[in-house]
Amino acid sequence: MMSSTRHFLTDLDFTPDEQSKVLDLAAAMKADKFGYQPYAGPQTVAVFFDKTSTRTRVSFHAGIAELGGSPLIINSGESQLGHKESIADSAKVLERMVSTIVWRTYKQSGLEEMAANSSVPVINALSDDYHPCQLIADLLTVREHKGATAGLTMSYLGDAANNMANSYLLAGVTAGMHVRIAGPEDYLPAEPIIAAAQERAKLTGGSVTITTDAAAALKDADVVVTDTWVSMGQEDEKEARLKLFTDYSVTSEAMKLAKEDAIVLHCLPAYRGYEIDAEVIDGPQSVVFDEAENRVHAQKAIMTWLMVASGLAEDSRVE
Ligand code: CP
Ligand code: NVA
Repeated sequence: MMSSTRHFLTDLDFTPDEQSKVLDLAAAMKADKFGYQPYAGPQTVAVFFDKTSTRTRVSFHAGIAELGGSPLIINSGESQLGHKESIADSAKVLERMVSTIVWRTYKQSGLEEMAANSSVPVINALSDDYHPCQLIADLLTVREHKGATAGLTMSYLGDAANNMANSYLLAGVTAGMHVRIAGPEDYLPAEPIIAAAQERAKLTGGSVTITTDAAAALKDADVVVTDTWVSMGQEDEKEARLKLFTDYSVTSEAMKLAKEDAIVLHCLPAYRGYEIDAEVIDGPQSVVFDEAENRVHAQKAIMTWLMVASGLAEDSRVE
């Protein structure tokens, strides 16, 4: 095991400076100015899915291929991982065969165990707690539409205790944003996540607001974000959840509180009429399909940066 190996398990794993460099890299890759293929050979990247996916699956597959590598997509139940073999043993086998391990799973602790036993980078492709790769795509989208991230107000409404709320909070303050998170009393980010975000905000000039007041959160926002009210793994709670968050819907009426030129993000898949109105997500302020496209540019930048930072690939342009 190499202690210098860099992993991307939570939004805090990139310092503000590193996050900014990964975003620069993603923009250069999107502009097709980069051309470096860290997985040329081709080396294999294993991508495990314990939950379903469209964007993450396709963007990793395409991104790995564009970086010269060979993607190996393994769905839940198709490998021994987590069923017949420990995560630690799986990591010790995988690190001898592949160049990076990407994993969408339930427990964050599983990702941590994988990373602790792997000499190749481990990437969180969504867990119950975080979706850090999504945030690199989202911040790239904000940069494209607003020119920068620092100093902007980003407001999240809805299930404020889920993976997207946590990631918007942590990655947003890392990018110097004023992040407001609004949801019902019992569905707000956990205290340690709020504390970590506040620490990060001190470094970047960003700020953290946690509130149950949706209107206060939206007031004069530059970027409005939301997510499904029923995340993967919560299907049994669907009926109750569809009632819980109704005051936190991104409706056309609610959008009047945000700045006139505010943009709207949603990681997708979206449920029109629940967390967001059709007129909003299909309207002129919505940039959700730019955001979806940016997943592939973001994945390429994340993988390239981790390979170089871990000493497993070289390119003088990647710091
Ligand atoms: N946004 C996102 O991660 O989408 P998928 O679940 O389709 O991968
Ligand atoms: N919160 C959602 C995000 C989907 C990309 C979920 O975990 O299902």
